[in-house]
Amino acid sequence: MQDGSAFASATIDFRSDNTGRAAPELVAALAAANEGTDASYGGDQLTARVQQRFSELFETKVAVYPVATGTAANAIALAAMSPPWGAVYCAPEAHVTQSEANATGFFGGGAKLTAVAGAHGKLAAEALAAAIANAGTGTHKSQPAVVTMTQATDLGAVYTLEEVRGVAKMAKAHGLKVHMDGARFANALARLGCSPAELTWKSGVDALSFGVTKNGGLLCDAIIVFTPDAAPALPIHLRRAGQVWSKMRFAAAQLLAYVEDGLWLRMAARANAVAARIAAGLGELPRIERLAPVEANEVFLRLPGPVMDGLERDGIRFFRRPGGVARFVCRFDAGEDEADALLSSLRRHL
Ligand SMILES: Cc1ncc(COP(=O)(O)O)c(C=O)c1O
Repeated sequence: MQDGSAFASATIDFRSDNTGRAAPELVAALAAANEGTDASYGGDQLTARVQQRFSELFETKVAVYPVATGTAANAIALAAMSPPWGAVYCAPEAHVTQSEANATGFFGGGAKLTAVAGAHGKLAAEALAAAIANAGTGTHKSQPAVVTMTQATDLGAVYTLEEVRGVAKMAKAHGLKVHMDGARFANALARLGCSPAELTWKSGVDALSFGVTKNGGLLCDAIIVFTPDAAPALPIHLRRAGQVWSKMRFAAAQLLAYVEDGLWLRMAARANAVAARIAAGLGELPRIERLAPVEANEVFLRLPGPVMDGLERDGIRFFRRPGGVARFVCRFDAGEDEADALLSSLRRHL
């Protein structure tokens, strides 16, 4: 991986982790895969290697299905895990319910996302138990089917292992399946320092939306299934949704390069470090409300409008959210100078 400072430029861009470059290692892997011929639709050698490599990485036999976007990963995985009449429980802030245009309901033939409260973008095990208890019985109601946790959360916090296990245990006790939206799985893993297995199937997760694009990929995320019975018709759901890639080997090449020698975790750690630098610098400024602890690569602050205007005038790019919230997302290729520029602009305008 190139050091973030190698990418540093006049740009100070915290709009998203999607605004950055693709990792040079992944681009090189694509070029290397661009030789000769191989079977299509996942019958190729690189895709076979992905199944083997990811099974080693997760310490159990997994099935990996590359898809184009995080929304495709979430919606199609959940569609395969829930019956059309199922309730899919998620945090109120979850991307699946806030920003995917009802894709889970669409692909799931009616499956219903149902918000369950918790702190910092998480859903709490006790709140899940209450939601299931209140779901009612009989043919008038959605039937509790799946719970999905966003890791790292949509507010930049990270579920601890105990929290993941607690939610999963509660779900399993009521016969629900467990999905994880891991659009920022690498950031969460880099934060926790545990193994991919511990954060997923060993804690009760049946299927994972495995983010790559936000952390240096090009048009490639994946669904990883740990419990085959949890999503038996997934390959057909994927085909119907147009997510079975004919030239699968180019997705496979990226996935292999992504995890090679821990590249994915180094990139995520780099993004997390830039966010941590911002969080540390905030401590020296007049008190600013944070919506959640900064535990991955995102910082959410409540800021007065004139302060946000000032940041924008200084050329700092970020997203404004309703309620006076500013979102700052750190890319794997962000420089520390971007964090410092944000802090000095905040100092000027606060
Ligand atoms: C937590 C989370 N999940 C899923 C997605 C969906 O990814 P995509 O925009 O690639 O569909 C995003 C994108 O911002 C996200 O932040």
